[in-house]
Amino acid sequence: MRALLTKIERASALDRAGDRLQRAVQATLRPQRVRDLLHGVFLGHPLHPALVQVPIGSWISAAVLDLLPGQRRAATTLVGLGTVSALPAAVAGLNDWAALSRDQRRIGLVHAASNTIALTLYAGSLAARLNGRHGAGRALAYLGISAASAGAYLGGHLAYKQGAQVNQSVSELHRIGEGWHALADLAALPQRKLVTREMDDVSVILYRHGDEVTVMLERCPHQSGPLGEGEVTEIDGHACVVCPWHGSAFRLNGGEVMHGPSGNDQQVLPTRVVDGVLEARLP
Ligand code: FES
Repeated sequence: MRALLTKIERASALDRAGDRLQRAVQATLRPQRVRDLLHGVFLGHPLHPALVQVPIGSWISAAVLDLLPGQRRAATTLVGLGTVSALPAAVAGLNDWAALSRDQRRIGLVHAASNTIALTLYAGSLAARLNGRHGAGRALAYLGISAASAGAYLGGHLAYKQGAQVNQSVSELHRIGEGWHALADLAALPQRKLVTREMDDVSVILYRHGDEVTVMLERCPHQSGPLGEGEVTEIDGHACVVCPWHGSAFRLNGGEVMHGPSGNDQQVLPTRVVDGVLEARLP
């Protein structure tokens, strides 16, 4: 199985179809507000993994009910619920997929293909059940759960092995020692300009506004882009740093994600000033 996954990760033959689909998704899912909604910006967590719980849970429950007598109606209801709820989950997944790196997109493409097959089989199962052909409906549903399981396995690989839509910056906190760390003379910090410093080899950005200073991890939670090379801009009345790689925006006051593709907030560190020296520590 590992060898097969490595082959898919390296399958450059998938890139032509992947690049086309990526352009189509980016052209279709507009404006930015829609993309942000689908990335889960309002949650501060990716939306796709939350949405997939409904179809997967419904389909697994239907598979159990299909084994029991007198449960046809309940199983049909669950197959219908799973099929309908798979659509928004798929759209959110496509939206995330379009902002992944190439090797992640290759696995993501096969993940999407498996789930599309599952969805088609479940739609067929639902139609068969509604027409009274419950034997065919059950058979199609068991094929569907097999395809969905393959899709889930690939989705797990995408998240846990390849780190897609996982917060890429939070592990940096484990490399910062306890206690306060001196970062800069407050008086020497320029106003409204990003400055980069190190805390135990972990890069952080400093942004001074008056006597308030934000200290934030520099590595973007989306795919580790350097926020220190980003721009500061105002979004909905809040000063935000915009990642130079794919445009995720984070509030400098608090770290909340304002625009995706990151679905995760960025970590801001507590600060204090002692004898004119700015210090920060772990939250
Ligand atoms: S690395 Fe993708 S938005 Fe920052």
